[in-house]
Amino acid sequence: MTRKTNSNVVAISKADVAAWEHEYSLTGYTNVFNISLDEYFLKKIIKKIPQTDRRILILGCGSEINLQRKILLSHAKIEQIVCTDGSQTAIKLAQSNFSNEKICYVNIAHHEISNFITDIDSIIVCNSILSASDQYNREVIGHCYKVLKNSGRLIGVFPSIFSPLEQAYHNKKFSNWISDGTIDLVNSLFKEPKGDFVQSFYPPSLLKKIFESNRFKLNSLEIIFFDSYKMMQHSEYIYGIDSNNGLPVWEYLVEASKYSLQAPVKK
Ligand SMILES: C[S@@+](CC[C@H](N)C(=O)[O-])C[C@H]1O[C@@H](n2cnc3c(N)ncnc32)[C@H](O)[C@@H]1O
Repeated sequence: MTRKTNSNVVAISKADVAAWEHEYSLTGYTNVFNISLDEYFLKKIIKKIPQTDRRILILGCGSEINLQRKILLSHAKIEQIVCTDGSQTAIKLAQSNFSNEKICYVNIAHHEISNFITDIDSIIVCNSILSASDQYNREVIGHCYKVLKNSGRLIGVFPSIFSPLEQAYHNKKFSNWISDGTIDLVNSLFKEPKGDFVQSFYPPSLLKKIFESNRFKLNSLEIIFFDSYKMMQHSEYIYGIDSNNGLPVWEYLVEASKYSLQAPVKK
């Protein structure tokens, strides 16, 4: 399995979006590892969003609406939450699940956001920058940088290649993940055992580099364990991880800020 280095962002995005469209039309997102089910995770994300924020972008919002609902309940100053997704089905589902005058749903691909969106205080990325094309992911993070205010930040959850690797070494049931290409450690790619998705699951140092090469300052990268009862049940359904004794799936919770473009004031 080799990582795609195609420079044609439109083609890469079309293929990714079509795969998601297919997934939503087949199962309505039930076959996907869905972190928005987890109250602990939602609390952690909400806590990281400053109370002064007025404009938020949820990139690759998907069909679930728990996050936008919670932000509106917890952040009184919010004027607009822009929710984008390349999948028309996801946007339609989200819209029918929760609409509000402060929420604006937009059906666009990640690399198009800077054509339409500006002045964002915080971008929330929940497992939505994971194309198999490393180059595409880097470009998308560049577009995120552009749509943010100078004081803005990206708060995100990104999967780690070391989480499935741990599963594979810990449990014989998953040991084939190493030999059959489910885990491609060299290229940081993971092929979902259910479905055909191949996605980028980065190691921490590479993720840090990707942010920094796009001029972001990585403020924190912590591990978030999806070990609540609900998430262990969900992990059993999606991956076959034993919900009582298995290792929990974990990911990186990241916060990166945009450097101010203003020159520092001389004393
Ligand atoms: C794993 S789902 C996560 C959805 C949601 N953030 C959540 O946590 O439930 C990834 C989402 O990103 C969207 N997506 C992936 N690649 C995209 C792209 N290139 N442009 C726009 N949306 C994309 C998919 O349509 C999908 O809704």
